[in-house]
Amino acid sequence: MIKFFNNESVDTPLIEHATMTLAARAGITVARTQIVRLVGANAIAIRRFDRERGRRIHCISAGTAIRAATAAGAAPELGYPELARILRRVGVTQDDSNRRDARELFRRMVFNILIDNTDDHEKNHALLVVSPFENGRLRLAPAYDVLPTNSGQGYQEFVCGAHGRDSTLENAMSQCEAFGLLPAEAAAEVAHVIDVVNTWKEHFAQAGVTQRDIASLAERIDSDELLGQRTGFDRARFQSPPAKRKRPSPFRRT
Ligand SMILES: Nc1ncnc2c1ncn2[C@@H]1O[C@H](COP(=O)(O)OP(=O)(O)OP(=O)(O)O)[C@@H](O)[C@H]1O
Ligand SMILES: [Mg+2]
Repeated sequence: MIKFFNNESVDTPLIEHATMTLAARAGITVARTQIVRLVGANAIAIRRFDRERGRRIHCISAGTAIRAATAAGAAPELGYPELARILRRVGVTQDDSNRRDARELFRRMVFNILIDNTDDHEKNHALLVVSPFENGRLRLAPAYDVLPTNSGQGYQEFVCGAHGRDSTLENAMSQCEAFGLLPAEAAAEVAHVIDVVNTWKEHFAQAGVTQRDIASLAERIDSDELLGQRTGFDRARFQSPPAKRKRPSPFRRT
């Protein structure tokens, strides 16, 4: 796939490439990207994940998966926790990839919040249908369309947790159990993503993004709201309580 420059105020193709490669550093599986230098502008080439040796791999959007899993008449909860529950339920279980997919989805949510990618709507997440004629199980497709939105809207398009779509780490942490994570495990994921996002400026500069564009993106990514969350995150707050002492069995011989 090729996406062209569309007269945005910043070099969007180059910024998308820089963001996708930064996401990879944060442990996110991304579609492979490459910059195509055209006369006067950059374009981005994205390797399709729904083709394999010329054959099509069936994919569905997160919205379709969530709606299909919602009882008739009920309102679908279009968000990360619900998608994580679906992945854990109908993911590939033999090698634990369902659990790894749910964990990665948590990482993607945190990355999107911190890098100001608020455009994480139901069609910007996809699932690969694994062996559709055998079991129809689902795997998380590589991430795509991940780049700062520069909207400053303060909320995501996908529900993140108990505070709905709020772009906060508090919200991301609030339903970590839906992703199969203990609070301490989720907090470790957040801390790792923070470490990677803290390097965004150098990474973008290395990818060739101009200082002018970096300064423009910094207005959001390094704003009080987002930088404040990176510096203010206290991992220690989420340490798991000590394991409860097991009650002795009443059948235990004394
Ligand atoms: N690497 C890929 N392999 C297969 N399909 C893809 C890939 N990347 C994107 N798509 C599909 O193409 C659609 C459009 O791509 P993308 O989201 O990158 O474009 P966009 O114009 O930025 O979209 P938006 O409307 O979200 O702004 C996606 O919703 C997805 O269905
Ligand atoms: Mg899109």
